[in-house]
Amino acid sequence: MTGTLNIDIQKTKKSRVSEQDINDVPFGKCFSDHMFVAEYADGKWTKAQIMPYEDVPMSYGTSVFHYGQAIFEGMKAYKNEQGEVSLFRPLENFKRFNISAQRMAMPDVPEELFMAGLMDLIRLDSAWVPASETGSLYIRPFMISTDEAIGVKISDSYKFVIITCPAGKYYSDPIRVLVETNFYRAVKGGVGYVKAAGNYGRSLYPTKLAQQKGYQQVIWTDSETSSYFEESGTMNVMFVIGDKLLTPAVSDTILDGVTRKSVLALARDWGMTVEERKVSIKEVFEAIDKGNLKEVFGCGTAATIAHIVGIGYNGKDYDLPPVADRKFSTKVDETLRNIRKGKAEDKFNWMMKVM
Ligand code: COI
Repeated sequence: MTGTLNIDIQKTKKSRVSEQDINDVPFGKCFSDHMFVAEYADGKWTKAQIMPYEDVPMSYGTSVFHYGQAIFEGMKAYKNEQGEVSLFRPLENFKRFNISAQRMAMPDVPEELFMAGLMDLIRLDSAWVPASETGSLYIRPFMISTDEAIGVKISDSYKFVIITCPAGKYYSDPIRVLVETNFYRAVKGGVGYVKAAGNYGRSLYPTKLAQQKGYQQVIWTDSETSSYFEESGTMNVMFVIGDKLLTPAVSDTILDGVTRKSVLALARDWGMTVEERKVSIKEVFEAIDKGNLKEVFGCGTAATIAHIVGIGYNGKDYDLPPVADRKFSTKVDETLRNIRKGKAEDKFNWMMKVM
């Protein structure tokens, strides 16, 4: 069978979808029936195919295992009450994927290939898109270098793959975070603004140390002065101080998050003052002291909105306002959910229908 763009489609003989409750699975551990794969060699993408999800036999000498030429995206598909499936702002992820590819010296993926692979895959695995209120199909496009060579050089060959998994909430509860001033997620001139696999690998050790102290995540600060907030864990971070929404401006150390830009668009649409700029630790703690800090939350594709209810800094713990008092982030969370589920007007045209 051939899909759009001559994608060769081999269907699984037996779907696994009924083997678990897709409305209640842990994040990222249960993969749907099929995957999309394309290969890059001799300067072009070839062998685009959708096939049953399977392990990949690869040489231990494959370059990606040694030097981390690997990038990814995170995006989601939603099912509405009529059973229709839509993607949330997929072109934003597509564009960012190629920004990541460029920074990591990897080839661009053409839009037709990315979108046709994505649409055909989601159509084929539409039974895997949860219909529950907070459920979605998490989509993970990624690219890895595949030269069988351990000399340090740009690979000549790559695989572009899309896998998916049904997902519920990423964080089941609001989180407490530690302000991290010893380890840094990103540096000026580095790769913090792209979704390079190594950004996530390097975050694990500081996160483990924070977790040993009782926090769920860290809030990263800038590596030059340790005075400004950057991101929280794997999410962008936002603060409501008084009646303003503040968030670190995107830069070479901060990811241009799709959820981030959607939250800012909604805030502006609702007439809220939004400031995208450097946000200092000092001003946030002054706002805590004066009782002006109303809300702190992380936002990202996997988590959507993660309320931050406690911050540790310099050996002291600060409790933040309870979730029940957080009008803005609660409304944003609900509005995004309703747009995605087809229950609220999609005035920004964020949803792209798959079927
Ligand atoms: C996302 O929010 O999609 C992320 O990339 C975070 C994570 C699951 C790595």
